[in-house]
Amino acid sequence: MASTKLSVFLPLLVTLLLAALLSIGVKICVIIGLSLTHLHFYWSNFQRAPTAVSVAPILNNATFYGAVTINDDTLTLGPDPDNSTSVGKARGLYHFPSNTTSFVYEMIYSFAFTYGDYNGSSLSLLGSVFPSLSGTASELTVAGGTGVFRFARGYAVLKFASGDPKRSLLVNELDVYVSHY
Ligand SMILES: *[C@@H]1O[C@H](CO)[C@@H](O)[C@H](O)[C@H]1NC(C)=O
Ligand SMILES: *[C@@H]1O[C@H](CO)[C@@H](O)[C@H](O)[C@H]1NC(C)=O
Ligand SMILES: *[C@@H]1O[C@H](CO)[C@@H](O)[C@H](O)[C@H]1NC(C)=O
Ligand SMILES: *[C@@H]1O[C@H](CO)[C@@H](O)[C@H](O)[C@H]1NC(C)=O
Repeated sequence: MASTKLSVFLPLLVTLLLAALLSIGVKICVIIGLSLTHLHFYWSNFQRAPTAVSVAPILNNATFYGAVTINDDTLTLGPDPDNSTSVGKARGLYHFPSNTTSFVYEMIYSFAFTYGDYNGSSLSLLGSVFPSLSGTASELTVAGGTGVFRFARGYAVLKFASGDPKRSLLVNELDVYVSHY
């Protein structure tokens, strides 16, 4: 009697055990498959037509409160947008959400890469930028990605690199740290 029960339950037990081990194994493989990528490039924003357009009025000239700008910006390997390898486009909007804090803007952007292994892949970057000439960095959220950056999570450190008021040009340096499969 006992041996009959065992002959039924033993294969079941072994099957369940194997299934559990397999599931743990798959999870371990998935964890091992996670990559951490560091990207370093420059984002150039010409704050005028045809690559930037203001779509809402400034309500307070001291803070830029209310302003919303739609942008089609260039990404390059080096700091000079006129003389550096293009790595993609940064498209999105930024807006000035505070009537009391000067010039803090929120960016909602998609960085679409056209370079090397990242050609055709993109990252979504969100967050507050505190423009500073003193080199203070702002930290942005990597909210997600496409292509090689599917399931992306991470952050970006943004620093002012240079500006040319005559051309309404602002260049920021970006270090992006992103984990993805
Ligand atoms: C901001 O400055 C511009 C140009 O000097 C002026 O035309 C505009 O009325 C000002 N806006 C506000 C809200 O004060
Ligand atoms: C680009 O950079 C190279 C090397 O630094 C320099 O020789 C060249 O004059 C630059 N071209 C422009 C258009 O700035
Ligand atoms: C923004 O702040 C200014 C100065 O404090 C004030 O005069 C104005 O009414 C505020 N604007 C809005 C839309 O709250
Ligand atoms: C990126 O991919 C597009 C479409 O596949 C291709 O036409 C283009 O030449 C590629 N660019 C680079 C720099 O590899």
